[in-house]
Amino acid sequence: MRTLTLPGVELALADHGAGRPVVLIHGFPMDHSIWSEQVQSLARHYRVITPDLRGLGRSSITSGKVSVEQWADDLAAMLDALKITERIVLGGLSMGGYVAFRFFQAHRARLAGLILCDTKAAADTPQAAAGRLETAQRVQREGARFLADAMLPRLLAPATLARQAEVADRLRQIILAGDPAGYAATSRGLAERPDFTPLLPRIDCPTLLIVGRQDAISTVAEMNAMARAIPGSRIVEIEAAGHVTPLEAPAEVSAAMEEFLLGVTAGLSSTGS
Ligand code: MLT
Repeated sequence: MRTLTLPGVELALADHGAGRPVVLIHGFPMDHSIWSEQVQSLARHYRVITPDLRGLGRSSITSGKVSVEQWADDLAAMLDALKITERIVLGGLSMGGYVAFRFFQAHRARLAGLILCDTKAAADTPQAAAGRLETAQRVQREGARFLADAMLPRLLAPATLARQAEVADRLRQIILAGDPAGYAATSRGLAERPDFTPLLPRIDCPTLLIVGRQDAISTVAEMNAMARAIPGSRIVEIEAAGHVTPLEAPAEVSAAMEEFLLGVTAGLSSTGS
């Protein structure tokens, strides 16, 4: 891990391999390490950068609320600090996908492709937003254990919980390592994120969607509707996984990404960009 001093934030990130840059953004309440297996396989051919978003993992907490706009701008500042001018492939799991949508809106010219894992485009319903504010209060009062207990059963497929105890333990440890103040700030920001649904038909870069068939948070139906709305996109459904596909089905996720990245890089070299 290294830490970059960016405007207003100390951003922690892992940076492996060389080649076309691939930036992978974790979900909530998680950190960069959910991508460890993908980093191992992709870094043989690509430069794979996995930051902790502001407020999460080892990156600094800077206020009581963080927005998707702020996170996307942090990524652009990170690329500047790393002197990356080539177009990147940006992947995001769930909340990471919300950040990827915003990055597309604000920094389109820096993108060669998108990977959207177990995410959604719609904003929170008023009820979901109210739930986030309650989560923010409770996590600050009760600590990260509250989030781990409340979220693990929804994040992972029943089969993962029953048969892959090591995956559930690993995710629990990731959640417990985070700072309750950062989780609260994130929850407040997510409650206010915009609806990205109108953006979907305008996404004009190669896009891969990945979804676990048992995903209870970003359902297969919702992800397929997104795939239909994004021109030319492709969706890969993973049978034995819930919401955290990179951890629950690491080999399948890596394989889908590798195939997609081969296509993106071949397209770029044929257009000389
Ligand atoms: C995530 O995995 O990032 C969260 O489930 C997203 C959310 O709470 O909307």
